[in-house]
Formats: sequence, structure tokens, C-alpha cells
Amino acid sequence: MAKLTLLGLKVFLLFVIACVLAFSSRQSRAGRCILQDFQVTWAESHIRQLDAGRAIQLVLDQNSGCGFASKYKYLFGRVSMKIKLVPGDSAGTVTAFYMNSDTDSVRDELDFEFLGNRTGQPYTVQTNVYAHGKGDREERINLWFDPSAEFHTYSIMWNHRQVVFYVDEVPIRVYKNNEAKGIPYPKFQPMGVFSTLWEADDWATRGGLEKIDWSKAPFYAYYKDFDIEGCPVPGPQNCASNANNWWEGSAYQALSPVEAQRYHWVRMNHMIYNYCTDKSRYPVTPPECVAGI
Ligand SMILES: *[C@@H]1O[C@H](CO)[C@@H](O)[C@H](O)[C@H]1NC(C)=O
Repeated sequence: MAKLTLLGLKVFLLFVIACVLAFSSRQSRAGRCILQDFQVTWAESHIRQLDAGRAIQLVLDQNSGCGFASKYKYLFGRVSMKIKLVPGDSAGTVTAFYMNSDTDSVRDELDFEFLGNRTGQPYTVQTNVYAHGKGDREERINLWFDPSAEFHTYSIMWNHRQVVFYVDEVPIRVYKNNEAKGIPYPKFQPMGVFSTLWEADDWATRGGLEKIDWSKAPFYAYYKDFDIEGCPVPGPQNCASNANNWWEGSAYQALSPVEAQRYHWVRMNHMIYNYCTDKSRYPVTPPECVAGI
């Protein structure tokens, strides 16, 4: 972890003040100043604020990657961000956006991981779901656009019935609550929202064959339009069990017909790995793969 120098601290405080002043009059959820909801957790020096704190730039170089996290944890809700990924030769870099209960043994976690690639080769989006400490549920898709050319919205919607990962308006993954069939579902622990840009060239691109080309460093990823709607913890009592929260509404208890169509399209055309069908890893099909969609 980078040590916060006194100068660094002052600069950081100035940002906080400028940011709060700039946005205290406007309290719309989307486009809020990032420091209202998030804090830097790794390498202050590698995170720059842009557009009066409404956007940030993450930097990865040979010295460090970096990361930020929400100040609160949330129990159910939806979190979304617009992200523009590292362009060009991004092989070996990983940009992650995830929710995590931050509890060691019985961790719950919902992951988006964007695995970079050589110039012109497709980015891979890996998702994973940990429930009650058990993960190993990787799925991978190739995106149908260049995610480094423009901002796209990546969201996680989480309620009592399902977890849905969205890329723009397209659901790419659904993890249903199948507790009735004995399958663990994340619902007891609040989760924080995290993001990091880091080096993982031992596994990320073509299984670790493609190494980071440090001559192309520094690498930059951009974030804006942070939006978290959910029950903050600590926060209002009984919020999470309130059936009137919009994300618990009937429209969010299952995919709509249009969403189901898009979901099917992604699975048919863009899915490149699914743990459910990986027989060498799982000779016995995991129960949620049978009971699920
Ligand atoms: C990178 O590109 C190669 C070649 O097109 C592809 O097989 C692979 O899935 C892509 N993504 C990663 C993360 O390796």
C-alpha cells in the first residue's frame, strides 16, 4: 500500500473540498462526485480525478496498480459504473469491478473482471459469484464492441431473487436464488463496491501466455457516472427486507422477455467459457447449473 505523504494528503483534501463544494447543490444519484461514495484504497498517486471529481483515471505502471472502494457496504440494490478500459495493447492487465463482503471465511462476492488483450484481440469479461465462501463459478464472454473506445455501463443488480450482471442493457449473467434447492445464495452479508486496475499477466491473457508490454505503460482506465442504489450498512433498519425497494419489484424478479432474448443472444454468440460445462473441472455438474436457468 502506498504511504500517504503530507503533501498527498493535502492535495487529496483539496479535491474532497472542491468536490463537495461542486456537488453539494446537486444531489442526483448518477454523476455524483466519486468521493461522496468512494475512497481510494490503494496507491493514491495512481488515481486522478477528472471533471471536478465526477470521473477518475486509474493508472497502472511498473511501480503500482491502484484501487478504490465504497465507503459503505450495501445489502441488495444496484451498482453501476461507466468504464472505458485500457486501449491498445492491454494484454496482462486486469480491470476489476466487484462487490465483496470483505469477510474471510464465508465471503460473498460478485465479480466483473476485464481481461486485457493484444491490440485488435477481443477483451474478455470474466464474471464470478461467491456465495457463503464458495466461488469457482467463472464464466467468460467476449464483448461485441471495443470497450476501450468509449464508456459503457456495467451493472450488478442484486435482490432476494436473483443477481444479474449487465453490460449496457444486456444481461450477461444471472445467478438465481435457489436456496430452496439447497444452493447457497448471497443474502446475509452486506457487500462493499470495489474497483482495481492491476497486473495479472501470470493468468489473465490466454492463460498467462501473453505478458504485459511495459514499454506501453502507463496504462489508463477511466470511470464515471458512479451509481449505487441500495441499503447502506450501517443504515436505516429493516431497509434490506423492505419489499418496496424498487430493486425488489416484480420487474426485477426475473428477466423481462426482451432481456431474456438479449441474454440468450449473448450466451449463444459471445460466451467462451462456462464452468457449468467444464467437465474436466467439474465431472459432476454443479447443482446450480442444473437447477438454474
Ligand atoms: C485474447 O485474444 C485471443 C485470440 O483472439 C482469444 O483467444 C482470447 O480469448 C482473448 N482474451 C484473453 C483474455 O485471452
